[in-house]
Amino acid sequence: MSVDVLLGLQWGDEGKGKIVDVLTPWYDLIARFQGGTNAGHTLEFGGKKYVLRSIPSGVFQGGKKNLIGNGVVLDPLLFKEEAEALIAGGLSDIRKRLLISRKAHLILPTHRFLDAAYESVKGDSKIGTTGKGIGPAYTDKVSRNGVRVGDILQDFNTVYRQAKERHEAILRSFDYSYELRELEERWLEGVAYLKTFSLVDSEYFINMNLTEGRRILAEGAQGTMLDVDFGSYPFVTSSSTICAGSCIGLGIAPKHIGEVFGVFKAYCTRVGSGPFPSELTDETGDRLCELGHEYGSVTGRRRRCGWIDLVALRYAIMVNGVTRLIMMKSDVLDTFETIKVCVAYTIDGRRMDTFPYMLPADLRAEYVDLPGWQSDMTAINQKSQFPQAFSHYIAFLEEQLGVPITIVSVGPDREQTIICKPELIIQSN
Ligand code: GDP
Ligand code: IMO
Ligand code: MG
Repeated sequence: MSVDVLLGLQWGDEGKGKIVDVLTPWYDLIARFQGGTNAGHTLEFGGKKYVLRSIPSGVFQGGKKNLIGNGVVLDPLLFKEEAEALIAGGLSDIRKRLLISRKAHLILPTHRFLDAAYESVKGDSKIGTTGKGIGPAYTDKVSRNGVRVGDILQDFNTVYRQAKERHEAILRSFDYSYELRELEERWLEGVAYLKTFSLVDSEYFINMNLTEGRRILAEGAQGTMLDVDFGSYPFVTSSSTICAGSCIGLGIAPKHIGEVFGVFKAYCTRVGSGPFPSELTDETGDRLCELGHEYGSVTGRRRRCGWIDLVALRYAIMVNGVTRLIMMKSDVLDTFETIKVCVAYTIDGRRMDTFPYMLPADLRAEYVDLPGWQSDMTAINQKSQFPQAFSHYIAFLEEQLGVPITIVSVGPDREQTIICKPELIIQSN
């Protein structure tokens, strides 16, 4: 048995949550391997919409186990809010469905203030973080100053106080003013709440599941272009969002990785600062934003929009070893007469089809124009109904990217999903 990995290939918000939910029936265990409450994974079914932040997107399908892995940074306060909302919505047995790694690190209230303080001194080079304390929490982990989930069952007060005092000293040096008391009180209630869940040695749990032949899907957050090593640094998040991150964030050996599902939008978006070669700052960009409802599910921020970028996608496929592609939000392009596809960049008069170390301001994206299908895709439920121009779009992308597109999404609902190549989706091993 192997662990399949599903992750984003662009700058996040590709639609990972929806597809994890769609694929869950084929798996026994869904495991989040990195990120934290910077993620917002949206699922829609039965006329309702749900946004998950730390809890894996397999949680709605009964009988499945969900794991928050050691690679995740967990905010007890926001976790409590998320879990309570699910319980209020009917998931009363969430404690049976969800396990949490004792080795996951905690996001402390002061991490949020540090996140804001670091941003405040950056001036024009702000990253535009989600403000959830992600960077500072991972910084503490790597500098060996972190507080872990398992610590809440030990001498928690001491480790928490030490971490808080260290943070407060940094905040003073920034002359950053903040109000901790009320937030801390609610956060500590979150810590008490967290204790009512199964806190496990997740590396043993997941490897035992593997040995016993259970099917596992690892759920990524953010996207490859936000990866701390391979993304558009420094405008990235603070974790390894790529496939290799699933080994570290769950404690599974690389030899156990099976299929790697790469999720991408039929166009491209980015929220926050940083380079975006195929960005459209004109009315076409506004049109994509409105048709795709491109506003962040966590912060409500408007997402920047542009055409699909095959240079960045090829790079993402390479660093992840993607074996199956999944194309989302195809319906958003339904009304476009012409669809542009970025196939190369020109820098200093030189044509490049690899992703450069730095993306200079004078970079120009080179496009190929493809005909739009100009018909409503949202009610289509099988491949045979694809408009010809849409089939052509898929064939062009597959030829350029060298990996099959196995699922196409034509709307936000669970049902608006077409599995074009079922034989490549259902695990055969
Ligand atoms: P994630 O972070 O990768 O899980 O993606 P988000 O949930 O942040 O953003 C994807 C958004 O697009 C959500 O609002 C989804 O409901 C929506 N969505 C997903 N698939 C489709 C689709 O095929 N068509 C349309 N129109 N919306 C979609
Ligand atoms: P999902 O899982 C889109 C972006 C932020 C910012 C940068 C760093 O829903 O796809 P951070 O708070 O992580 O330090 O912010 O990363 N970012 C995301 N953009 N989707 C996400 O998650 C993101 N998580 C972080 O906007 O530019
Ligand atoms: Mg999202």
